[in-house]
Amino acid sequence: EKGGYEWFMLKEIEEQPRAVADTLLGRHDTQGRLMLDEMRLSDDELRAIDKIVIIGCGTASYAGMVAKYAIEHWTRIPCEVELASEFRYRDPIVGRSTLVVAISQSGETADTLQAIRHARQQGSKVLAICNTNGSTIARESDAVLYTHAGPEIAVASTKGFLTQLVACYVLGLYLSQVRGTKYGDEVASTVAELEKLPAGVQEILDRGDEIRSLARELAEHRTFLFLGRHVGYPVALEGALKLKELAYLHAEGFAAGELKHGPIAVIEPGLPVFVVVPPKGRDQLHEKVVSNIQEIRARGARTVVLVEEGDTSVDPFADVVIRLPNAPTLLQPVLATVPLQIFAAELASVLGHDVDQPRNLAKSVTVE
Ligand code: F6R
Repeated sequence: EKGGYEWFMLKEIEEQPRAVADTLLGRHDTQGRLMLDEMRLSDDELRAIDKIVIIGCGTASYAGMVAKYAIEHWTRIPCEVELASEFRYRDPIVGRSTLVVAISQSGETADTLQAIRHARQQGSKVLAICNTNGSTIARESDAVLYTHAGPEIAVASTKGFLTQLVACYVLGLYLSQVRGTKYGDEVASTVAELEKLPAGVQEILDRGDEIRSLARELAEHRTFLFLGRHVGYPVALEGALKLKELAYLHAEGFAAGELKHGPIAVIEPGLPVFVVVPPKGRDQLHEKVVSNIQEIRARGARTVVLVEEGDTSVDPFADVVIRLPNAPTLLQPVLATVPLQIFAAELASVLGHDVDQPRNLAKSVTVE
């Protein structure tokens, strides 16, 4: 059933172009208009929303962080993201005009389920982004937007995460379309960009050997840092989480803009630091992250830079360059995460760990 792969995780990483395509399938027409038949919330209900709260645990919470940037940009609805386990026990301010978006691959995560129950008691509508048909979270939510990743067996989430990102983009664009907001004209062009992602992910997979040899080269290291900014920040957190889970190493993700506020103190010669560089755009994010790379390089860090094709501005400061296919900033996480998954799986395997069943972890966490 592993289809010739040594581990389910490797198979699931390779399935991602298909999983991303399936999650888009049937959800838009040829003009780039979204169609969400399964959205059991009426247009009037969606127009009445004045706040969105996204909840999830672990990797799903990182998908939620990316979603916040995208949904706020396209809809201009204030959007918060919070760990489900924190949300539940702080008496959160949610009510009838709040849409709670609960993200869960398994649909059985107890923390997320308790948070959903609490939100519904307060009168909020809950939309689940879920991969498992008939799961408890799917049953207890007002509406479900299914990710079509197919069964995810490996404990560490890969295709679950990428398809959560895609479902969040679809949701944000749909809300923008229904509510007719200022950025509504971006809907069709973004749908076209979403449709390019499966090929982009495939391109990265086809160059997987470069990442695997990098993992073997860095296998002696016991600490890894990951930096990103804007939507690259949750990608950094996800890269670090994958390494912790699978390779049992100390790995931390930081917001690149925070570097001078503390983390730069831990930089020492030889320390591997992965940096996700935003695409060159109209804003200044790109140059700020490039100057962060210069700063850590000047302190001897070994910089592994994920950057879009054709952008050579980082080359003088990068020890290793990982090229990403072009994509709009908001969609870049779908591409930038993939090399980090491959890296973590390879490193775990080099260290002799069980890639599919890391110690102390369970696939669905059904206790709080
Ligand atoms: C990370 C991982 C966990 C899950 C988290 C939520 O690789 O697998 O962090 O993402 O436990 O699980 P779901 O999405 O099933 O609610």
